[in-house]
Amino acid sequence: MAIPSSIRKLSLLFLTLSSIVSLLAPPSTANDSNVLLTGDVIPTDGQLTNGDATFVMQGDCNLVLYNNRRGFQSNTHGNGDNCTLTLNDLGQFVIRGASGSAVWNSVLRGNYTRGKYAAVLRPDGEIAVYGPAVWSTPNYGFSSTKDTISTKLMEVPTANNLLFSSQVIYDDAQLTTRDYIFIIRESCNLALVKRSTGIIWQTGTVDGGENCFLRLDHHGQLAIVDDQYKTVWRSQPAAKDGDYVLIVQINGQAVVYGPVVWSTAYGY
Ligand SMILES: *[C@@H]1O[C@H](CO)[C@@H](O)[C@H](O)[C@H]1NC(C)=O
Ligand SMILES: *[C@@H]1O[C@H](CO)[C@@H](O)[C@H](O)[C@H]1NC(C)=O
Ligand SMILES: *[C@@H]1O[C@H](CO)[C@@H](O)[C@H](O)[C@H]1NC(C)=O
Repeated sequence: MAIPSSIRKLSLLFLTLSSIVSLLAPPSTANDSNVLLTGDVIPTDGQLTNGDATFVMQGDCNLVLYNNRRGFQSNTHGNGDNCTLTLNDLGQFVIRGASGSAVWNSVLRGNYTRGKYAAVLRPDGEIAVYGPAVWSTPNYGFSSTKDTISTKLMEVPTANNLLFSSQVIYDDAQLTTRDYIFIIRESCNLALVKRSTGIIWQTGTVDGGENCFLRLDHHGQLAIVDDQYKTVWRSQPAAKDGDYVLIVQINGQAVVYGPVVWSTAYGY
């Protein structure tokens, strides 16, 4: 009996994905080293890294961005003991000392909204805070393993876990994080794959077009577009125009955050 070609292509997709999965190195146990989400904590002497750039919550309580550009510092040297850094639900960095009291916070401009934000140490060596979150795949409640965070663990190679506004991926390109792969198939399907399990979310647009690509625009909208520039699938856009980022997170969600509310690139 003939198998419909769409089913054959779908099982081929599964097969190809599982072979990709088995070829990949075992997942690292560290958090993504280039992203700090609302609620996350960088401990004393902990850091974000991306390429040669590091963003360090120093033992002297100063928060310093070392890059080969102008860098940044909070100028809070000596203002607290065992200082830690968090990102709050307004997208503000907050440094706290051992007593728990705030030593410093980053400045916010204009109107802001409570939500989930993401601070990203970008490939250009600058820190930018994006948010609130405007789109995400469902939260299936996969436990993020309760690893204790140490500076050693943060020294993992940069993960290819980010897509910025204007950027495009296509032809089976993928964004990856510890246990997950976000992949745009040439068949036009966009899938979030758990390395050990298989597809956990997908747009279900197999054969929706040919030679499709995925693009993030300046309203935080993700779109799958085919060779004829026909939109095969798209997420809800946000109201505000600006720079957005898609992050494939270690908790098994792909999330779009933006626009930028704070950045070292703006000299704040
Ligand atoms: C790492 O992930 C854990 C679990 O999700 C979280 O509690 C912690 O704050 C994260 N640390 C950093 C530096 O992102
Ligand atoms: C800071 O951390 C060190 C090492 O954990 C500890 O010995 C010290 O008591 C802490 N200081 C304060 C003020 O909590
Ligand atoms: C903030 O919101 C208020 C009230 O909605 C508005 O009058 C004001 O112009 C806004 N400011 C900025 C910077 O967007």
